[in-house]
Amino acid sequence: MAFPQMLPPTASILISSLLLQLAAASAPCAFPAVFNFGDSNSDTGGLSSAFGQAPPPNGETFFRKPAGRYCDGRLIIDFIANSLGLPRLNAYLDSVGTNFSHGANFATAGSTIRPQNTTLSQSGFSPFSLDVQTWQFSQFKSRSQSFLDQGLFKDQLPKKEYFSRALYTFDIGQNDLTAGYFSDMTTEEVKASIPDILDKFSIAVKSIYGEGGRFFWVHNTGPFGCLAYVLDRLLLRAPEVDRFGCGSPFNEVAQLFNTKLEEAVAQLREDLPLAVFTLVDVYSVKYELISHATKHGFELPLVACCGHGGKYNYNGHNGCGSKKMTANGTEVVIGKSCKDPSKRVVWDGVHYTEAANRWVFDRIAEGKFSVPPTPLRMACKERAV
Ligand SMILES: *[C@@H]1O[C@H](CO)[C@@H](O)[C@H](O)[C@H]1NC(C)=O
Ligand SMILES: *[C@@H]1O[C@H](CO)[C@@H](O)[C@H](O)[C@H]1NC(C)=O
Ligand SMILES: *[C@@H]1O[C@H](CO)[C@@H](O)[C@H](O)[C@H]1NC(C)=O
Repeated sequence: MAFPQMLPPTASILISSLLLQLAAASAPCAFPAVFNFGDSNSDTGGLSSAFGQAPPPNGETFFRKPAGRYCDGRLIIDFIANSLGLPRLNAYLDSVGTNFSHGANFATAGSTIRPQNTTLSQSGFSPFSLDVQTWQFSQFKSRSQSFLDQGLFKDQLPKKEYFSRALYTFDIGQNDLTAGYFSDMTTEEVKASIPDILDKFSIAVKSIYGEGGRFFWVHNTGPFGCLAYVLDRLLLRAPEVDRFGCGSPFNEVAQLFNTKLEEAVAQLREDLPLAVFTLVDVYSVKYELISHATKHGFELPLVACCGHGGKYNYNGHNGCGSKKMTANGTEVVIGKSCKDPSKRVVWDGVHYTEAANRWVFDRIAEGKFSVPPTPLRMACKERAV
């Protein structure tokens, strides 16, 4: 029997609908927008809008001027937007010249999942915790839709249908853990706070699902025990380091958080049947870069590129871009950038360089570090294809 000419008509209809389904399953998602929630790892100008600009030399590599990012250039979220064919996200809090046609960014540097009981000036943690970011998102959605109903701001706001088709990205949690340490909690106490932190994370995700969000791309937390601000401030209290010089207790806490995050996301998959979650293991990628920096073309992985003095070129009182008044009344910058940021992993002792962000993005984009292993452009599909 010849194929396919001899097939009865119903069979060929079945086959062509199957082929259509296969084509749909392998077609990229074409996300029309990205809405991001998080901390400084993905802040594209939120904290700067509210509390003053991240000073130069932030932005020097790519933007050639400060651009609201705590980085010499672009962040992972910038590479995400770019690879989806979308413009870089504007900060929701930015009141001048913003364009939200293809998404908005609710992240601010210093944000935590749980609201902190301290002010920014007391502790350095942002008042825009994840619950606040979801309230802002809800305002953004309802106000933008009501303006569109009046025929206003069409070229600055996302179309109504974008909210259910958008990718919702999250990179937050690290500050909840360091906030515990900075308020003198022991490692055991910080570990004990993780279930409550993740309960609040799940509440935030459910509220976005309640607003129609369906596609979630979640970064786990990085190895903050390798970052200068933690090493400099906390190593005296928990002095164990691994063979790469990273503070082991802090990285163990990060890994415990990530294990529990995986459980929380598994539960969310059950509770929110129409949602699609991709959980991305940025911890492993960042740790690989730090622990084998030379192999990957980088150097001095624990030392800040931009800073002022000390073992890690990090000084909590004189950060990247900080200035000092000289005797004759002129200001000089003392928190200076290193010669070649493209060879460095850590920018200012807290955040990664553009070169490191790009390296991490290149490794996570195809899904090799994700559960399930879905590429970014396919993150609307139930299963990897
Ligand atoms: C802030 O205080 C409230 C009330 O005492 C408490 O329930 C909450 O856990 C505290 N938040 C943090 C992050 O410590
Ligand atoms: C906002 O960006 C979109 C897409 O890049 C563009 O089509 C639109 O004209 C922009 N709006 C304004 C007001 O510049
Ligand atoms: C002020 O002092 C700094 C060095 O401390 C020097 O570089 C600068 O030229 C001086 N400026 C003036 C106006 O004298």
